[in-house]
Amino acid sequence: MASAIINSVAIVECLEASVEDFESIWELIQEYGDQTDRWVSKEGLKFAAFKEKSFEYIIAKYNGKVVGIASLYYLHYYWYGKSMCIDEIITFKSHLFTDEDVVTLLLQKAMEILLKRNCHTLCLILLESDLSQFTKLGGEVEIGFKILRISKIAINQFAKEKSELNKHYLIRAGVKEDIPSLLYLIQCSAVFQGEPLLLDANEKMISEDTFDKKQIGAIVIEADAIASVESDKDGADVSPAVEMPHNPRIIGMVLYYTFYCKRRGKVLHFTRLFVKERHRKQGLGTELMRECTKRAIMEGCEEINGKINEQSTKLIKFYEKLGGVILTNYVTMNFSRDCLLGSLKM
Ligand SMILES: CC(C)(COP(=O)(O)OP(=O)(O)OC[C@H]1O[C@@H](n2cnc3c(N)ncnc32)[C@H](O)[C@@H]1OP(=O)(O)O)[C@@H](O)C(=O)NCCC(=O)NCCS
Repeated sequence: MASAIINSVAIVECLEASVEDFESIWELIQEYGDQTDRWVSKEGLKFAAFKEKSFEYIIAKYNGKVVGIASLYYLHYYWYGKSMCIDEIITFKSHLFTDEDVVTLLLQKAMEILLKRNCHTLCLILLESDLSQFTKLGGEVEIGFKILRISKIAINQFAKEKSELNKHYLIRAGVKEDIPSLLYLIQCSAVFQGEPLLLDANEKMISEDTFDKKQIGAIVIEADAIASVESDKDGADVSPAVEMPHNPRIIGMVLYYTFYCKRRGKVLHFTRLFVKERHRKQGLGTELMRECTKRAIMEGCEEINGKINEQSTKLIKFYEKLGGVILTNYVTMNFSRDCLLGSLKM
């Protein structure tokens, strides 16, 4: 159990919350949480955290009273290994200890949980103005990426518009036979983004996470015989390192998963949107995103979000055309496994 003596008297301890803690958690949210954008009802929150287990709470207690909360949920990035995100940290204002003390303890508790569960990275999405209190724990700000948000209104609007899909292409859900192609396109996208070839991605992970546990959804574009002519030789944007067996007719994909955000409810997160270079600028990227909006509606999501490269003005325009908004005041901070181990030894 993470605990600390603060001010030589106050002993604050952190633990994983149980349903009995919910009333105190709710009280803290009502009193100190940011109420902007908040839609979720008390019962909805309790159900999501303790019944559905879409996320979990860790709490800090002083003298049996809950003085801090943070929520944790899994991020399903199979190519980075299992990771978690920490969200909505709220602390009770007290003269006995500072917010920063309690936040540090909550973060350390989250790190302990992550290591115990063999996770790779702890991710934190926070306001730029709050950065300083986290950097000293060894977190690294993700440079060059911003959060893109597509609101429910924009999702509904975009999903309704008529699809302009060229007749030589078919958009469909990925199936098990597509696994080699999904892996191939993940690697292509990693090369394009200038990331080191993605660490852990392999066919077994895709098979388990996408088709057995159904944690990650895959949408692919399949080209017919006419459109796919020589498609396999078109990887001008793909490094020779990516020489893997795959179906050359699968020329684009987007992956997604849903998670529960306390403020706005269920969110569809998309990632690895990719269309092979030779097939771009025919509306295929737009149609992949339209398919995401349909999934978001089907799953009852309140918004779609994703991480995008903030330097690419063309990409930003592409998403803005779909009704997306770039959140300029938020940053993503990552604590790697090595950093977590280091921080806990502090
Ligand atoms: C982003 C991407 C999926 C768009 O696919 P697409 O099939 O070309 O998309 P569409 O044809 O529907 O739309 C093309 C629009 O995207 C814009 N665009 C987006 N990213 C672009 C890029 N990297 N280079 C050139 N144009 C780009 C174009 O300006 C074009 O706008 P226009 O219609 O006003 O001319 C594709 O460019 C791609 O795979 N890029 C590499 C991977 C990537 O950046 N993924 C996004 C990660 S967040």
